[in-house]
Amino acid sequence: MLKTHSCGELTKKNIGTEVTLAGWVDRRRDHGGLIFIDLRDRGGIIQVVFNPETSKAAHKKASGMRSEYVIQVSGKVASRQKGTENLKLATGEIEVIADSTEILNPSKVPPFYINEDIEVDENLRLKYRYLDLRRARMKKNLQLRHRVVKFTRDFLDGKGFIEIETPILTKSTPEGARDYLVPSRVHPGKFYALPQSPQQMKQLLMVAGVEKYFQIAKCFRDEDTRADRQPEFTQLDLEMSFVDEEDIICLIEELFIALMKDIRPDIKVVQPFPHLSYAEAMRDYGTDKPDIRFGMKFQDLTDIFTKTEFSIFRKVIDQGGRVKGICAPSCASYSRSQLDELNKFVVSLGGGGVVTIALGSESGSLDKLKLDDAKSVVTKFLSLEQIKQMAQLFGARAGDLLLIIAGKPKQVDNILSELRLEMGRRLKLADPELFSFAFVRHFPLLRWDEEAGRWEAEHHPFTSPWEEDTALLESAPEKVRGKHYDIVCNGYEIGGGSIRIHKSELQRKIFRLAGYSDKEIDERFGHMLEAFQYGAPPHGGIAIGLDRIVMLLAGEETIREVIAFPKNQAAVDLTFDAPSSVSPEQLKELHLRLREEE
Ligand code: AMO
Repeated sequence: MLKTHSCGELTKKNIGTEVTLAGWVDRRRDHGGLIFIDLRDRGGIIQVVFNPETSKAAHKKASGMRSEYVIQVSGKVASRQKGTENLKLATGEIEVIADSTEILNPSKVPPFYINEDIEVDENLRLKYRYLDLRRARMKKNLQLRHRVVKFTRDFLDGKGFIEIETPILTKSTPEGARDYLVPSRVHPGKFYALPQSPQQMKQLLMVAGVEKYFQIAKCFRDEDTRADRQPEFTQLDLEMSFVDEEDIICLIEELFIALMKDIRPDIKVVQPFPHLSYAEAMRDYGTDKPDIRFGMKFQDLTDIFTKTEFSIFRKVIDQGGRVKGICAPSCASYSRSQLDELNKFVVSLGGGGVVTIALGSESGSLDKLKLDDAKSVVTKFLSLEQIKQMAQLFGARAGDLLLIIAGKPKQVDNILSELRLEMGRRLKLADPELFSFAFVRHFPLLRWDEEAGRWEAEHHPFTSPWEEDTALLESAPEKVRGKHYDIVCNGYEIGGGSIRIHKSELQRKIFRLAGYSDKEIDERFGHMLEAFQYGAPPHGGIAIGLDRIVMLLAGEETIREVIAFPKNQAAVDLTFDAPSSVSPEQLKELHLRLREEE
């Protein structure tokens, strides 16, 4: 090794020890006679002092050193002079007095500061990711991710799971996104698909008798990127045989509680994790991944508005729409401009606007509320009774503000759910020190795809229906419940799984319902249907979005911050500049020709 110690591991105990260190120049200060260099390596930072009286040669070399130069230094650890300690630094009470030094490699001036946690354009950070990853925050995130993966591996190993790698060059598996395709050179006109998840492989491993499988699995989905979505991401994927829903749910709860205790013992976790039905989640929060750290539940006001003369809402209702609202505590005093801001927020989400009702200026009980006290554009269409009726639904108090949205049912849910989160942020209702895990269950097995005019699996087509509902598959598919469960945390879907179908006939029936012809079923999924005929055990599993859980544990707002080399928002890898053009020879080998206009 070119070093005897890491910078961060030195303590007062090392005083008097001769050490050799190697790392990067974090900061250099020339104080006339003395040169101070903060030397950084993976383990931390330590101050190195170059004194011409100790070594003229070392001092001379240090005068040529600049930020991010890679250097090696030998010297003695000493205690810092009284009054010059830096308590912000773990090694702030000591320093190394340099005897000799070498510049191992100089550095160009970096495009941004490595030694300061300041806002830098993200695309610039991604282009120079290898420099960005030198920054303390990113280094911490990489280490955290490593610890989460290591913890998970050990935990599952302890439970008898074995890790099995599954192929990347494979065939399409339907998880609801577009596939990434890889043309085959050897088989002209044929393509591999990159796995959207190892779903089919892990099920085949159950047929193979593995019983307990897991994998830290790369998944590929050609869908729009978002803060919590990447085209290439990592799942903690697992599958078990001879289990029911409770077995998987208990295992995952145990895993997360243990993980939190190990990685973020400072964060509170509500135990046991609450279970919500899909219907409850949609009714109360308009989303299947609610942030339940705060209430502010939805109330359906359609019936009340049906009985009013407010024509805008009446029209929406007549066309099959709904009117729903939330109650923002103590916000009746919001100014005109604050209300305008909320309206703009709703319009930016594609809504028509938000109707607000301020429940009087005084806070307290609503008993004394008079019609004149309720400030809203709709009060002239409402009786005091109707206002009180609404307020009662919310359990509102005087001084609260009702926020009401009308529109098509799905649109109302989407917009009001965003508005709820926005109010939660404004009012700081979500405790940042709390992780609110919850299981969402009892999803419908299928949903009607309006555009395609067919049923689509709510989770994926391998999910088992409830046994007692299978008779409804033909007569009333919308009523069939699926054995599907999601785990959510603080408004993020961090995992999803199900008990699977393990019988060939039932699997074929579901594919047919999802609009596949028998020919397509045999071409795309014949291997699964066949495998199920060779003694497939009952089985089920789950996949956790590793990037998302690490993002939450790191307190970051995008998964890009916890991935070493992520794609940017336009799905471009800026470090490598991928995707990129390929040579005509490569295209020819792959039997591909680009269209002229491209
Ligand atoms: P699902 O599609 O719900 O299930 O994915 C499981 C979890 O993976 C994460 N995730 C993503 N993370 C980042 N970027 C993406 N593009 C992305 N897409 C999904 C989410 C999600 O909850 N095979 C099934 C699992 C199973 O049934 O066992 C599956 O993939 O956190």
